Amino acid sequence: MMMAGDDQIISAEDLEKPLTYSAEAFLSPAYAKAEKERLWPNVWQMAGRVEEIPEVGSFITYDIADDSFLIVRTAPDTIKAFYNVCPHRGRQLVDTCPDRAQTCGKKKAIVCGFHGWTFDLNGKNTHILDKDDWQGALTEERTSLSPVRVDTWGGWIYITMNPDSGSLREFLEPAASILDPFEFEKMRFKWRQWVIYPANWKTSLEAFMEPYHVAGTHTQLLKYGNYYAYSKAYGAHGVSGFDERDQERRKAGGTSNTRAGAGADPRVATYELARENYETVNYSASTETLVNAARRLVDELPEGTPPGEVVKHWLASARADDAERGVVWPTLSPEQLTEAGLAWAIFPNQNILQGPTYALCYRSRPYGNDPDKCIFESYALERFPEGEEPKTEWVYAEPTGEKWGSVLAQDFANMEFVQRGMKSRGFRGALPNPHQEQKITNFHRNLAHYIGSTSLQLLDE
Ligand code: FES
Ligand SMILES: [Fe+2]
Repeated sequence: MMMAGDDQIISAEDLEKPLTYSAEAFLSPAYAKAEKERLWPNVWQMAGRVEEIPEVGSFITYDIADDSFLIVRTAPDTIKAFYNVCPHRGRQLVDTCPDRAQTCGKKKAIVCGFHGWTFDLNGKNTHILDKDDWQGALTEERTSLSPVRVDTWGGWIYITMNPDSGSLREFLEPAASILDPFEFEKMRFKWRQWVIYPANWKTSLEAFMEPYHVAGTHTQLLKYGNYYAYSKAYGAHGVSGFDERDQERRKAGGTSNTRAGAGADPRVATYELARENYETVNYSASTETLVNAARRLVDELPEGTPPGEVVKHWLASARADDAERGVVWPTLSPEQLTEAGLAWAIFPNQNILQGPTYALCYRSRPYGNDPDKCIFESYALERFPEGEEPKTEWVYAEPTGEKWGSVLAQDFANMEFVQRGMKSRGFRGALPNPHQEQKITNFHRNLAHYIGSTSLQLLDE
């Protein structure tokens, strides 16, 4: 593995230039080991949603590499997290299994299955069989569960194993402040699915980090417009969206700059694009309210209404429809919407494609120590009228269109073959697009800071 000091790591400014990176990060067991030792213990990582532990005693497990955590609601407004290990002789307190996305449940106390040591929800030991045999050596410190730092943002729970790193907020900035107006904490799961997928966790995540693949992979979407879009770095995180340069490029290609879709009649095009997105991305990346409001555009607006007016009317009527059923939209200024772009990569492994009342999210994690496999998860969030939130659980779903929808199936149909292709002796290293795939190069730039080695280089070097 090529070692590098920070001075050898590509700067944020260099991300604008043509770069290359080798396949090592995706293929090498040594790189996977370095991630286990230097990346995962040092980042804040998303471990679940607050809604998964609604009551005192509710818990979920979160597993990453060889570590497992118990995340427990210990009081109505308090969440704590512990390493999932008994201080006696090291049995896991809750059995984990790589063939489950997670384990969840509710407990009054945590009882180890080996010798029955018992802990309260705060991790304090409350029972040890024959404690006197230790002659007083079993202090509270020695017998309590090992805590890890936990915090929340946007309805997500994050943990970090590093007791000395900065706060979650610092770690998430500037993404957190840019995305706060979307009020993700008011959204709930609509569905959640996972799969053990035959590609590195980064190969899988990167398939959802850039819009450059839309034209080649999701060819059916081209009839609705040009998907030319930027992808850029925001600190450790990254976002894709349309800026002025992209708008010019899209207009030159005959596409309006309002996302009203292509075609002569923007009322029809808006509806067709909204419906296509919703139905082929497994009923996510939009909502039923938005699709229904788009369907009515031909009845509610005269022929010849300009695209900008069509979109304005569409969003206003969807907002009114939602208000009527008790779903309040967040207040999002045009500036906030522009800055938030379309889809975020929150370092290291959380992707969010956001809208006013919905979000389509991805996470991927290593599967054991195998660099060729990952646990890939995707879920849709949506704002529901209070009391009408659907009951969901993690569903294992083979990577086909049947459960994922045709668009995600198209993405799955690439990832495995990228992983295989990168092993070719004929692969000379990646040639990422400096404008449209910068989220990916920024991802590797930040990985390099943790791993201490970089495979990212300027192309003309
Ligand atoms: S290992 Fe847990 S009680 Fe012995
Ligand atoms: Fe895709």
